[in-house]
Amino acid sequence: MSYKDIIVKTKINPDPLIMGIETSCDETAVSLVKGGRTVLADEIISSATEHVKFGGVVPEIASRAHTEAILTACKNALNKANCTLNDVDAFAVTYGAGLLGALLVGVSFAKSLAFSLNKPLVPVNHIRGHIAASYLADKDLEPPFIVLLASGGHTAILKVESYIKAQVLGGTLDDACGEAFDKVARVLGLNYPGGPNIERCAKEGKNIIPLPEMLKSDKNGFDFSYSGLKTAVINYVHKKEQKGEQINKGDVACSFQCSAIDVLVKKTIRAAKKYKIGTVSICGGVGANGYLREQMQKSCGKENIKLILPEKRLCTDNGSMIGAEGTIQYLNCNFANIDLNAVASIPLELK
Ligand code: KG4
Ligand code: ZN
Repeated sequence: MSYKDIIVKTKINPDPLIMGIETSCDETAVSLVKGGRTVLADEIISSATEHVKFGGVVPEIASRAHTEAILTACKNALNKANCTLNDVDAFAVTYGAGLLGALLVGVSFAKSLAFSLNKPLVPVNHIRGHIAASYLADKDLEPPFIVLLASGGHTAILKVESYIKAQVLGGTLDDACGEAFDKVARVLGLNYPGGPNIERCAKEGKNIIPLPEMLKSDKNGFDFSYSGLKTAVINYVHKKEQKGEQINKGDVACSFQCSAIDVLVKKTIRAAKKYKIGTVSICGGVGANGYLREQMQKSCGKENIKLILPEKRLCTDNGSMIGAEGTIQYLNCNFANIDLNAVASIPLELK
């Protein structure tokens, strides 16, 4: 009997224990999630410090670091959850989007576990994983809700219509918000990862520098464009440097952060009001930004909208979100065959 035949005959556990494996970028993450809502263990081994001197993630270094860390992350997760591989109902793994070499480490690891234990291999779309972090943050959350997705690769507002389906209401026309944070950080001489360092630096800012308003013509829409804002900041810094003038990094970081974040909040609230949906969630690495979290809390409070605010650890890449989304896919019998491959990009629309 082939692996696929065995899997077809798998009896679905309605309250499964799913191992979530995430290696799309520089975090080697393994989690154990029970019933799609409860995190039993959440292990993350990051190679971020190895990339600092290069100013960004070096794919080759990330892949090697995953290879070294993944078994430890897996063993630690099992120990913390006090369970064994035999207790796991299925192995869910990010197969895309992300760095191919990095993804392949997680995919191959998950395959070897699934194949040797004759258990299902569940393919997880990284973006669906980010959204599914909302279900861990609020155990009673059910669609529909509006989600703001802001990560290093994506910036979009989606209407989550069911556990499977989400409609993209708008997205970035060029750079992602997190990408803009990383690029502006580099111009200011701040280390990778840029987002948290800009946030820290912005706390020193006192004066707001005028920056161009994003997509003036998109008055009622849900799109974003970060390249103009990024270029405006870069030009400001370069002009100051040419004139031999001192740059106040705190002011620049603070002004950029306000411009980059305020529009996210405004358009997310607009979407909730337009579609008369009373619940909003945020996800993706930029969701860890304190200013975004504060502003979203204020605006949702004013509009009487319920805000789901996943803890910061669940916003940046982690294995729990893959376990949560893996549970949804497992319950829908969406299993991969043993020839599952990694893919660098996946369209955003979730059908
Ligand atoms: O979701 P994520 O961990 O990985 C991707 O799927 O891309 O997001 C990473 C992005 C990076 O661009 C990083 O700079 C940004 O999220 N980020 C932040 C913060 N923490 C991470 N941006 C702003 N403020 C933060 N505190
Ligand atoms: Zn991510």
